[in-house]
Amino acid sequence: MIGQVSVIGAGTMGNGIAHVFAQAGYKVVLIDLQEPQLEKALVTITKNLDRQLSKGVITEEVRQSALDNITLATTMNAITESQLVIEAATENADIKLRIFKNIDELAPPGCILATNTSSISITRIAAVTSRPDAVIGMHFMNPVPVMKLVEVINGYSTSAYVTSTIVDLSRKLGKIPAVVNDYPGFIANRILMPMINEAIFSLYENVAGVESIDTVMKLGMAHPMGPLQLADFIGLDVCLSIMQVLFEGFGNPRYAPCPLLVNMVTAGKLGVKSGEGFYSYTAGSKELVVSPRFSETRPGPVSGKIDPGPPAE
Ligand SMILES: NC(=O)c1ccc[n+]([C@@H]2O[C@H](COP(=O)([O-])OP(=O)(O)OC[C@H]3O[C@@H](n4cnc5c(N)ncnc54)[C@H](O)[C@@H]3O)[C@@H](O)[C@H]2O)c1
Repeated sequence: MIGQVSVIGAGTMGNGIAHVFAQAGYKVVLIDLQEPQLEKALVTITKNLDRQLSKGVITEEVRQSALDNITLATTMNAITESQLVIEAATENADIKLRIFKNIDELAPPGCILATNTSSISITRIAAVTSRPDAVIGMHFMNPVPVMKLVEVINGYSTSAYVTSTIVDLSRKLGKIPAVVNDYPGFIANRILMPMINEAIFSLYENVAGVESIDTVMKLGMAHPMGPLQLADFIGLDVCLSIMQVLFEGFGNPRYAPCPLLVNMVTAGKLGVKSGEGFYSYTAGSKELVVSPRFSETRPGPVSGKIDPGPPAE
């Protein structure tokens, strides 16, 4: 029975994960190395609960009990009392492997060790612990309180009991679980990232401009956001690192990241978080403005004289 949950990492995802567990009645210890990150997370959770309250999604009682269910910590001590640990720290394999070695030493027998990683192999993470059968991917989507999906990822050794516990738990949080196996990109990013990469190739090859590419996918495919805008929202550095995981993991050139994506990340144009990507972002403005770099049609890589073809008969 899961009563207390430790969430490691109080960034974008960690605060959302703590929020949904606390709202569903679980005691949550939110852990981060940095005190200011914890304080910022609590402000965000409070603001998001307030928004749910004002929209009538939750009652004042639920709002208050959710806040009462959350404790903040800068050490891993609480793990000794938890039945589930969810790691949502920085997407870096060395950091995650170190954290999992540490969790494995502290967590009591029977504790499930989950990770919210977007792209790092669950099997690789499980292999640094003494209990690979208890390690699983619990991949929430951003923003966590709003998005319904939890991609539940079985590592090579994850036990059927651990999978069914996480599936049931996801439903108790009001989410819809989808169970997948551990291969590069799982399902979400294996399908999403090549689509985004292809949209960037379409821009790079001057097949169409930023707005046209996004409009085709929004209005033609009923996507709520075009792939280039979505890439800016996710972060171009994150998109690049996931494409690299797919490219290396499958050894297939069809996953090669677009050179334009590589250049943009190298130039520090990371999307919303850096203020510029395919679009430009001004603090406080909701207007979507194409970045000046892409606002004009540029000649594609193939240019020169138009071949007039054979003379008319
Ligand atoms: N942002 C997204 O849209 C998204 C979506 C799905 C999954 N994810 C995954 O969720 C995880 C977290 O992503 P994020 O966007 O919240 O990152 P973030 O950078 O916003 O937050 C990461 C947090 O981890 C903390 N941290 C780093 N090392 C730590 C350690 N050793 N112990 C405790 N805390 C530590 C950092 O201080 C930071 O607060 C990543 O694995 C990412 O791939 C992100």
